Amino acid sequence: MKTETFRGRDWITDLDYTKEELETILDLAMDLKRKRATGEPHRLLEGKTLFMIFYNQSLRTRNSFEAGIFQLGGHAHDLNPKQIYTPALPGREIAYSTERVSDVARVLSRMGEAIAIRCYGEPVDWIYGEADRMIREFARWADIPVINMEDDVYHPCQGMADIMTMIEKKGPDLRGKKFVMSWAYSPSVEKPLAVPQSAISVASKFGLNITLAHPEGLELDSQLLDAVRENVRKYGGSFEILNDMKEAFKDADIVYPKAWTSKHNIPPEVEKPLLEETQKLFDSHKDWICDKEKMSYAKPDAIYMHCLPADRGFEVTDEVIDGPQSVVFDEAENRLHAQKAIMALLMR
Ligand code: CP
Repeated sequence: MKTETFRGRDWITDLDYTKEELETILDLAMDLKRKRATGEPHRLLEGKTLFMIFYNQSLRTRNSFEAGIFQLGGHAHDLNPKQIYTPALPGREIAYSTERVSDVARVLSRMGEAIAIRCYGEPVDWIYGEADRMIREFARWADIPVINMEDDVYHPCQGMADIMTMIEKKGPDLRGKKFVMSWAYSPSVEKPLAVPQSAISVASKFGLNITLAHPEGLELDSQLLDAVRENVRKYGGSFEILNDMKEAFKDADIVYPKAWTSKHNIPPEVEKPLLEETQKLFDSHKDWICDKEKMSYAKPDAIYMHCLPADRGFEVTDEVIDGPQSVVFDEAENRLHAQKAIMALLMR
């Protein structure tokens, strides 16, 4: 396991890491999972502090980071952006209410060992890429690693937990397995594109046959798709995009249906967010639900994945998410192990 390339680096997107580095993270995550199960001590970050800034709500990310750093011997400090001077980029500053990101990053760098940030959607006026830009601005000024806990482009921690779960369920060699990342209906359009984008970008380094399925108008970021195609050329597997959920599910080994918003209806593609337009688009595709009938198109041993929280009765039926093919709670648990590995490697 080569660990020397990690120390002090930022974790903003998995695309910044080689396949070998992602494998090192997974090796360590599996090792830490085993150590936790057997009660072996693994206090690799004794006395170290992780600052967490959540602009959006969270259950899994907040608790997996907080429990994770505690289990590694360190401490998580949760900074509510509304109770500190809200970190803001130039142009978004309000006197004595916000504090410039460059200043916050430099102050926190004097006091702890990493800064983790979640930001997407409303806090950046739904301008696609603006939250990612803010996290990169933190990284530019911080002397300590900056960790992306989900922005409007990437959710790389989720992506690592997802691939870890696929390996556990389908074996260490995922080459040739069919992975379907599908859009699914939700009554809420306020869903970032980060989960599907990181899921397919990580998967594209592991030789999977990736099918991306969504109705027209719900395309993912074209630059991200180019990166996926490039990875598939380099590491094998295949990539296709379909506009039919049933067709996509045919003979799948892994299905991952979830909602994401329309990038075409948020800035910079349009002047201001057109969320009502997206609602109409969503509402015309209520049949994109993962139910028993859709699952019957996949292989009998196919697994059902979801990052959670799931919109039950809309994205998925109770029968599927609570059924024998669902691995969603193993997937959620793997957030803990994957992030412990990332923190341990970056914050040593
Ligand atoms: N999957 C995920 O990121 O969950 P939370 O929004 O609860 O953190």
